Amino acid sequence: MNAGTLIDEIGNTPIISGGSTLLSQEFNSASFYFKVEYLNPALSIKDRTALGLVLAAEKRGLLKKGDTIVESSSGNLGHAMAMICAIKGYKFICVLDPKTPQSNINTLKAFGAGVDLVMEPDETGSYQTKRIARAKEIAASRPNTLNLDQYNNRDAIDYHAATTGPEIYGQLPDVDVIFGSLSTGSHLSGIAKYFKEHHEGVKIVGVEPAGSVISGGEYKPFLQNGTGLSFSPKNFDPGYVDYVVKVSDIDAFKTCRAIAREKGLFIGGSSGALISAMANYANEHDGEEPQKILGILPDNGVKYTTTVYDDDWMEENGLS
Ligand SMILES: Cc1ncc(COP(=O)(O)O)c(C=O)c1O
Repeated sequence: MNAGTLIDEIGNTPIISGGSTLLSQEFNSASFYFKVEYLNPALSIKDRTALGLVLAAEKRGLLKKGDTIVESSSGNLGHAMAMICAIKGYKFICVLDPKTPQSNINTLKAFGAGVDLVMEPDETGSYQTKRIARAKEIAASRPNTLNLDQYNNRDAIDYHAATTGPEIYGQLPDVDVIFGSLSTGSHLSGIAKYFKEHHEGVKIVGVEPAGSVISGGEYKPFLQNGTGLSFSPKNFDPGYVDYVVKVSDIDAFKTCRAIAREKGLFIGGSSGALISAMANYANEHDGEEPQKILGILPDNGVKYTTTVYDDDWMEENGLS
């Protein structure tokens, strides 16, 4: 029995074995593992990040019961923060944009969160920088309101370095390569920081959508949700990550659909991109020394039944 709250159930997610077959291909040297972050209570890895940000703010004396937290989020951080605020007695406002599916907005409202919509994109056509600016503006204009800025707040990296990193090592101490998806960069930078400082030699690979510019390049819109940015955030630390690969929407989404059938894992688009990158890596290194390749799967396919898993949506977007 756990007579605490759902906050106590954040983290300690399983690592499952995917065997040596991936996307219908049998590999000689690779064995695949998946850390299933959608088993966190609000269904994503952002439960950990939101908790890390709140705990650090509380430790600094920046939050008291009844205060308001305001954040920009396209979904998962918002859901995680809304759940944690409901449990801890804080108010929460989430800054979103017109691309946010109505179901995401309804989920936030279910937890009692306020919703603020940014209607104007920036010069790249992305809403991300506008959303972040709006969250800061709301925090500055209201009393007892705090913006924790998940994109540029090293507390999130330190939390993952202190918790998620050692958790992975405890479960799979002989891991050779870790693949992680990038948006703010917080979870992969934190995991990478832990391994670089304590178990050097583990290769860390970041994955972002083609068109995203976290690791550089020219911005082009993409459809993968929760991953990728139109700018490079401070919480992406290239000093810790060995290299970054970019994956197209079609590869990400087709992989999602294949993995649900092949492994029984119902995953979001960023996990699909990551697994596609894992298969490419295994192909490039097949015939070399055996390697244990771990993918951190950020969220659950249940959030994408009207997009990635909808045949009509795939066809309308030229992804069939
Ligand atoms: C679905 C999904 N994938 C990947 C990420 C990337 O995580 P991070 O912000 O820690 O880089 C997020 C973060 O919001 C996400 O929601």
